[in-house]
Amino acid sequence: MCGIVGYIGSGDIKSRLIEGLRELEYRGYDSAGIAIMQNGKIESFKAVGKLCNLEEKIKNFTARSHGMGIGHTRWATHGKPTELNAHPHMSENSYVVHNGIIENYREIKRMLQENGINFLSQTDTEVIVHLFETEIKRHKELFDAFKATIERLDGAYAVLLITKKAPDTIFFARKGSPMILGRNGKGEIFFASSDAPLIGEAEEVAYIEDGTIGYVTKKTIFSQPDNLLFVPLSGDKLTAQKSGYRFFMEKEIYEQYDVMSDTMIGRVLDNDIAFEELDETFMEGVSNIKICACGTSYHAALTSGYLFERIAKIGVNIEIASEFRYKKPLLSPDTLFIVISQSGETADTLEALKMAKKAGLKTLAVCNVDNSSIVRLADATILTRAGIEKGVASTKAFATQVMVLWMLSLYFAKSRKSVDEVSIRDEIRYMGYVPKVLQKSLEVHEKCKRLSKRYLHGHGFFFIGRDIFYPLALEGALKLKEISYLHAEGYPAGEMKHGPIALADAELFTIALMPKTLLYDKIKSNVEELSARDSTILSISPQMFDLADDFILTHPHKHPMLEFFEMMVVVQLLAMEIAVRLGNDVDMPRNLAKSVTVE
Ligand code: G6P
Repeated sequence: MCGIVGYIGSGDIKSRLIEGLRELEYRGYDSAGIAIMQNGKIESFKAVGKLCNLEEKIKNFTARSHGMGIGHTRWATHGKPTELNAHPHMSENSYVVHNGIIENYREIKRMLQENGINFLSQTDTEVIVHLFETEIKRHKELFDAFKATIERLDGAYAVLLITKKAPDTIFFARKGSPMILGRNGKGEIFFASSDAPLIGEAEEVAYIEDGTIGYVTKKTIFSQPDNLLFVPLSGDKLTAQKSGYRFFMEKEIYEQYDVMSDTMIGRVLDNDIAFEELDETFMEGVSNIKICACGTSYHAALTSGYLFERIAKIGVNIEIASEFRYKKPLLSPDTLFIVISQSGETADTLEALKMAKKAGLKTLAVCNVDNSSIVRLADATILTRAGIEKGVASTKAFATQVMVLWMLSLYFAKSRKSVDEVSIRDEIRYMGYVPKVLQKSLEVHEKCKRLSKRYLHGHGFFFIGRDIFYPLALEGALKLKEISYLHAEGYPAGEMKHGPIALADAELFTIALMPKTLLYDKIKSNVEELSARDSTILSISPQMFDLADDFILTHPHKHPMLEFFEMMVVVQLLAMEIAVRLGNDVDMPRNLAKSVTVE
């Protein structure tokens, strides 16, 4: 999703902007651009594709010290990924970068065109800069012109604007799309769409609130309303590097072992589950749960559905956030509304949360990014503590979400007294084994690498599983299609015979999740049905299965969740190795964005 950076200071502006954009690459983008103001003149550069293309364009441009600039990585929404559509967009005197969607851009554009203004791009963003130019003529103060511009916009935006009329100023506005302001003792000022570019640069940051508009110069920070609250930003850039792995995705798969311990620390105690984020009365008045999420987070939600009902004995209803938003849902005050989001910025999930809040429901966010929009809005938050996830295809964020939800199901069970103490203790004991299950297994990785060459063609993959292994099958299929671009579907194993089995032949690849602790015989029968129709079968199981063409042997465990986490790593590695063999960009797959801040 689009990323924004801004900089004022005496550092090397060019590299400050490019390095900032590089830190935002993980959000996904298809073009990039910067505009630099020096001595009252603005120079702008744009390029389609990766940042290195933009760097190539600016290699002969030297920025003098003292000045400012804005930069942008664009993920196309209105208009193709072309240089003309890349930001910054310009008018006579001014340049703008924008993240979000201006919903009423067509009518503004029509009005501006009727007044003789020419548009260069197909974007919604370009209206902002032309509108500003016309407002300048109506207002004495530039800030008033900027404010009048912003007031005309409907939709979501994080906007930075610079103009030759105020060569020392960056104007900013935020509604619905994230933007952070940072500063340090060297007099440098930064803007960014997330913490990542600010780590190691800014000493303190203000998370700009929705509806805030203002401007910044070297000496002044002004906002309306006057609500900027600066807090210290600590951080270590190294954590965001690849640490010797080929891809961030690979590093993040292996990091699951470490981050899982962080997720559990202070929460999974000897004989108890504790969440200091929730007060004791949290479940009072709650008789059912509704969960909304998108993508991988939705799969974590589906997994938790089984756990909440089975362990906490509480009814759960799970919905994809973009569907929930427009169905005019019936919401009742005895429902706990949970949203799950890695980024905390996903527009559909955020909107679902707003709807629940408006209906007066108690809300809880399970999220990986502190201070994100979702975290700030929810009544309570449980952070998943996975650390920055850079691979677009989510891995460690998913693992920690599932873990938090498993812990929550136990926490709710305890407060609802729906399970006896012995069972709680047993469950906690098994939780303690999770990090070990996630430990690096070179053998399994090697096996995935070797098998991957057999699975590069065919007319489709079916990942099948039952119970909690059904959402894991959905997640396995999503991982594979995200990065390999092969067609893959997740399916409940028992449902194959009701249609999809018609596709079965030797070119249909079935990845069968066959845990020993849960419905083994049932899924075995389902796989036999597929084998009888000549489907090629890769079985992932602790038990050898003679009808499988290929086999990945997992360890025997005593609890289904331990089998779940081990098989999760297998499907992640398998998807990655298939994508690597196909020569794809594993960390930044085509057409995808890490954080989807538009509908
Ligand atoms: C995008 C990402 C997915 C992610 C989904 C939900 O589509 O590419 O990996 O699962 O958004 O994101 P969230 O940040 O809300 O978990």
